[in-house]
Amino acid sequence: MLPRPGNGPAAFPADGTGDLPPVYGPPPKYVYCRHFTFSGIALPRGRRRGTGSRGDRMTDGERGDSIVKGFALSSVFWLIVGLLVGLWLAAEMIFPALNLTPWLSFGRLRVVHTNGLIFGFAISGIFACSYYILEKLTRSPLAFPGLARVQLWLFNVAIALAALSLFAGMNTSKEYSELEWPLDVVVVVLWVMFAVNVMGTLVKRKEKQMYVSLWFLIACVVTVAVVYILNNLAVPVSWTKSYSIYAGVNDANVQWWFGHNAVASVFTFPILAMFYYFLPKSTGVPIYSHRLSIIAFWSLVFGYLWTGAHHLMLTPLPEWIQTVALAFSIFLIAPSWGSVVNGYYTMGGDWARLKSNYLTKFFLMGITFYGLQTIQGPTQALRTLTGYLHYTEYIPGHVHMGTMGWVTMIICASMYYMFARIGGRGIHSEKLANVHFWLILAGQLLFTVTLWVAGIVQGAMWKATNADGSLAYSFLDSVAAMYPFWSVRLAGGLLYFAGIAVFAYNLYMTARPKTQAA
Ligand code: HEM
Ligand code: HEM
Repeated sequence: MLPRPGNGPAAFPADGTGDLPPVYGPPPKYVYCRHFTFSGIALPRGRRRGTGSRGDRMTDGERGDSIVKGFALSSVFWLIVGLLVGLWLAAEMIFPALNLTPWLSFGRLRVVHTNGLIFGFAISGIFACSYYILEKLTRSPLAFPGLARVQLWLFNVAIALAALSLFAGMNTSKEYSELEWPLDVVVVVLWVMFAVNVMGTLVKRKEKQMYVSLWFLIACVVTVAVVYILNNLAVPVSWTKSYSIYAGVNDANVQWWFGHNAVASVFTFPILAMFYYFLPKSTGVPIYSHRLSIIAFWSLVFGYLWTGAHHLMLTPLPEWIQTVALAFSIFLIAPSWGSVVNGYYTMGGDWARLKSNYLTKFFLMGITFYGLQTIQGPTQALRTLTGYLHYTEYIPGHVHMGTMGWVTMIICASMYYMFARIGGRGIHSEKLANVHFWLILAGQLLFTVTLWVAGIVQGAMWKATNADGSLAYSFLDSVAAMYPFWSVRLAGGLLYFAGIAVFAYNLYMTARPKTQAA
């Protein structure tokens, strides 16, 4: 067992029953952490109200609970839609006859799947958790709750229109930036609404200290805005068609600078914000080191900005840009593992909690997949390995460990925590939450491990040569070799989907109004 120097000031009880996580509390100028105190970093604020006593905490009625619930339920809805499309896609790879109409063709469905899950599920989950965390960590209600309600409705209309436009084949052809320009404008408006609420609440906050989750939230708000707008700059030629202002290698460079920072800003920063808030809250144990979390934050944000070109290794992009991206990709292991180690040390060797507290499993397994993902990513950026693995199934294997393991596990666990607290009646069924956990774990592992092996086989087949130097296999041979792997991927996806269905049911039962639940 690691030494536990105490559970923090009494004003923020270690059982996590206050609004702030147990890591964090008065005295106002200092941040408590398990091993040391140090001067906190504070954002400039408008008016300072209160000094952080628990008496300032909000009552349930004042919180934006209905907004949080609205975004969370939207997120679960789009998760289910996105996964059903993913299953259809996985089946199409085995049974091409399923490309029944142009609207159901692989090319169109793939972008509905990625956009539905990135924008519909992940971003909506991020809005829900961010607003919840923001209110708790600032001890202030949302600055503009009315705006957040408009944002909720506009968001769902925008995602529905986005899905329709992609089904109809309207597509800029830039990965993860496929939406045509009128929808891009709506995305920017939505993001401005979010940013105004986040920054407005921070400025009006009653709590002086800036807990690390708030820094990650600010990074998410700023980086999404910058990379999304710069990558989508385009010249419209009609309501449904536009052309990027960049061309050739510049276009590719900007595209993947956006692409990898989208991974950072959507699949990393806000998910870490949730991890740092909900892990100590659900275990009642202070985060191991607040200082380490802050160091990891700044180095992660700095490092990510330079890595986009690792998607373009061995291409006509200037060699030095590729080398810079590679160097920073390796560098990223350190800040990424800063958070992984912080998570593990927070457990202080008390692994029995994995059994006794259903949420700990999700958070610890989630951060483990994040750790594996951030070793796998840098290694696959190495020139020799990228030359072997690029374009193979190994990459979707990488993607789905991160999305199905890390991102979904943390968002689902955060939603369980929030809904149990908002309803005040706890979770509907811990047993079902455990079933959910094991189903998504098994499904994800089957899915991703199979694709890694498939990618290695595929790469080997493409590179194999006969004694005379000719290729040993045709491209079609390599496609045929994938069928068994794709079948196992579909089976893994179905298992995972079953787990998500259990989650949706459990969350719905937890969210039901009191009278219905009785
Ligand atoms: C240290 C951190 C990471 C590094 C250095 C890294 C590196 C890479 C590299 C080199 C590729 C391109 C592979 C190729 O096309 O040949 C890639 C793809 C990808 N990674 Fe990571 N990765 C990291 C973490 C993550 C995390 C946490 C996620 C979250 C889910 C993630 C999601 C993705 C996605 C979605 C792609 C596919 C992009 C595409 O459509 O081509 N990565 N990563
Ligand atoms: C039932 C679970 C899932 C299934 C069956 C599934 C299926 C698929 C399939 C068949 C592809 C196309 C791969 C290819 O082009 O070779 C794909 C790509 C992708 N999926 Fe999923 N998926 C699932 C879950 C998820 C989740 C939860 C997320 C995100 C939160 C996600 C994000 C993505 C992304 C970003 C890509 C693009 C990968 C790349 O470009 O390399 N998927 N998925």
